[in-house]
Amino acid sequence: MTGPHLTPIVRFAPAKLNLTLAIVGRRSDGFHDLHSVFVPLTLADRLSLAPIGTDGLADTLYVTGFDTGPPEDNLVPRAISAARGAVGAGPGRPATPPLAARLEKVIPVAAGLGGGSSDAAAALDGALEAWGADLDSERRLQVGASIGSDVPFFMGDGPALVEGRGERLTRLTGVHGHPGILLVTPNVAVRTPDVYAVFDGATAGGDGSVRMSSAHLAQELGNGLSATDLVARAGVLASANDLLPAALLVEPGLVPFRRALTRVLGRPIGLSGSGPTLWTLYPSLGEARSAAALVEAAIVDRTIPPLGAGPPSIIATTIHTGHEERTT
Ligand code: C5P
Repeated sequence: MTGPHLTPIVRFAPAKLNLTLAIVGRRSDGFHDLHSVFVPLTLADRLSLAPIGTDGLADTLYVTGFDTGPPEDNLVPRAISAARGAVGAGPGRPATPPLAARLEKVIPVAAGLGGGSSDAAAALDGALEAWGADLDSERRLQVGASIGSDVPFFMGDGPALVEGRGERLTRLTGVHGHPGILLVTPNVAVRTPDVYAVFDGATAGGDGSVRMSSAHLAQELGNGLSATDLVARAGVLASANDLLPAALLVEPGLVPFRRALTRVLGRPIGLSGSGPTLWTLYPSLGEARSAAALVEAAIVDRTIPPLGAGPPSIIATTIHTGHEERTT
């Protein structure tokens, strides 16, 4: 126990991409068992936390950048409350004064990029540090999982095979080099529970091929794969998402949008998580940036049809391998 920090605690909260996403079963709690390869991206939100006094005041949240909606929908205050609950109050426990949180939101919201879950993991870890409190790693993971299925992934570093509801993690060596990733997030709401509900209602479900692709990639990333080899697998990976057909049914406008994007880029296009973010892999960040410029032009001249309430977010980024600067 070291007592509360006087200077703000700063955390970067990376986005994630699902390179594969197999649904391997339905659970009795209504969730689904997954087999999914998650990679963290250099695209990251920035969270700062500072104690604002003593008891009686409430935690506050100030958000810049993308709109995260009503504060009650934001996972940052929820994570701070959960951390406070886990630390507990009473003699011998560290004080958990209210925190002022400031979130710079650069990851598109409700996009299949895990931004909210990553913010929550950052808030949980940052709150404990701000209070000079500690929890053992098992308890931390339990608290993270209680906030959201994707939160445990963000509580550690690097790519991982994610199983169970999201709580079983096998960290992978990952990718050598810095493959570029183009993210195109149409401005439409695709709610995750709706996508899972459509998946459940479909008679076919997953056919097992995605599970095989996912197992194969996890094995390869376990040993480490070069950026070039990863890009060579883009065709297989782009169809290795069991939620893709359901996401296209929930938002049919994604079908012509994705088709046009494929024509403009001439590359396989994948879906991250339950969408609506579409992704393409490149050998380098520079190539992903050039592709971003092509997509921007195609949106303006309507080669790619308009979809939703405004233009898509178009972001070039890379897989985060641990040591490079945090940028888009
Ligand atoms: O845990 P989280 O709040 O992120 O989950 C959002 C929704 O996604 C859940 O309500 C559920 O419909 C679905 N989900 C699922 N199985 C998972 C993860 C999420 O069914 N493993």
